[in-house]
Amino acid sequence: MAGSSQTAHWSSRWTFIMAAVGSAVGLGNIWKFPYEAGQGGGGAFVLIYLFFVFVVGTPILVAELSLGRRGQKSPIGSMAKIAKEEGRSPLWALVGWSGVLGAVIVLSFYSVIGGWTMSYFFEAISGTFTGMDAAAAGGHFSGLLSNEYAVIGWHAAFMALTMFIVARGVEGGLEKAVTYLMPALFILLIGLAIYSSIVGDIGATVDFLFKPDFSKINLDVALQALGQSFFSLSLALGSIMTYGAYMQRNVNIGKSAVIIASADTGVAIMAGLMIFPIVFAYGLVPGQGPGLIFATLPIAFGQMSGGAFVGGAFFFLLVVAAVTSAISLLEPSVAYVTEKTGVERKKIALIIGGFIFSMGVLSGLSQGDNVIAEISIFGRSILDAKDFLTNNIMMPIGGMFSAIFVGWFVSRKNMMEELAMTDSTFRVWYFLVRYVCPVAVGAVFVSIIYNTITAG
Ligand code: PHE
Repeated sequence: MAGSSQTAHWSSRWTFIMAAVGSAVGLGNIWKFPYEAGQGGGGAFVLIYLFFVFVVGTPILVAELSLGRRGQKSPIGSMAKIAKEEGRSPLWALVGWSGVLGAVIVLSFYSVIGGWTMSYFFEAISGTFTGMDAAAAGGHFSGLLSNEYAVIGWHAAFMALTMFIVARGVEGGLEKAVTYLMPALFILLIGLAIYSSIVGDIGATVDFLFKPDFSKINLDVALQALGQSFFSLSLALGSIMTYGAYMQRNVNIGKSAVIIASADTGVAIMAGLMIFPIVFAYGLVPGQGPGLIFATLPIAFGQMSGGAFVGGAFFFLLVVAAVTSAISLLEPSVAYVTEKTGVERKKIALIIGGFIFSMGVLSGLSQGDNVIAEISIFGRSILDAKDFLTNNIMMPIGGMFSAIFVGWFVSRKNMMEELAMTDSTFRVWYFLVRYVCPVAVGAVFVSIIYNTITAG
């Protein structure tokens, strides 16, 4: 497919849905959601999370898909084009820029974590975890983090795979990858969740995930849940807008968005049902943070019979979920530069991927035991600072501005035409993007700022 002359399209509605679900379902669902739920008190976090996904996130998902499809370009190109058509300021292209740059930043640490999962996959199947106790598993994880060669090597392997798929283009690369990988992911997930509810403590898990303790709800939990809902739905990083541009005209955006959001949320809950029964059955700590999967699950895999197989399947699932998200993080910048320069996609994927890889080296090293790890940005390591900047700042603000743009700056008639919804559904959606999304995101922000100031 040559340069920018013709935008490629998904070959069917089904492949589009799988690609978008592939983008949405990732480390965010299986690694992050369970540990954030664990830290946020379980059910209370889950409840606010569900509210943000369906009341704020899904309407923005609709907004971004429709901006992409209307623009038919990269996020930057689409925002610029639509702003111009609507007679609005060219500055709206900044929403596209923030998405494309945000995706580059996210991929530069996402890929490091993707690398950890690859390494854990090979260790699980080779039986490394057999007989590990808590201390050994914790030590093993910090051992990986401080082994610079391993961390960078796996990060390189993960990036190489991502670049390979993106270099092959929409139909030959992205679409092929998701067609094989997504069904595999669902089968593994269902199998593992069933397995773990049988061998693990499903009763404690259900109490933990579905009985909200309202005393655990506070502003930090709310901001965390908001950021997580945007991250999990792949919002505000240009991924969804780019995938929207490859969508055919006859696909219904509203219905697709509901399917994508429900599948994404279903997978997050399933991931909880897969992980917590094991956590509780083996006396592990649900609220222990980012190490939940890497430092604690191996203990369980090391003790159960057939653990090498189950653990291998688990980490394989994680690699698949991560790769189908990573390609959607690389695609926006590749689409933009291809559109701008007309240079061959393969070369661009290689150059941008190489650049992201080098940015990622610092993220990888920042978790180890070396000088880079000593660098502290407002009390955070390089990896955590990138995560904080994108997840808690760029994504909510970017998402809020895309809601404001479609709600207030694109003509209502054009939106109705793009969405082809029934009148009443359109009215509900329009109300949500015009008022509820900006106010909800704004309110959480203002309160956080207020709290920071008064606490200081
Ligand atoms: N949604 C992905 C996940 O949950 C991450 C992602 C965010 C991918 C934004 C693309 C854009 O892991």
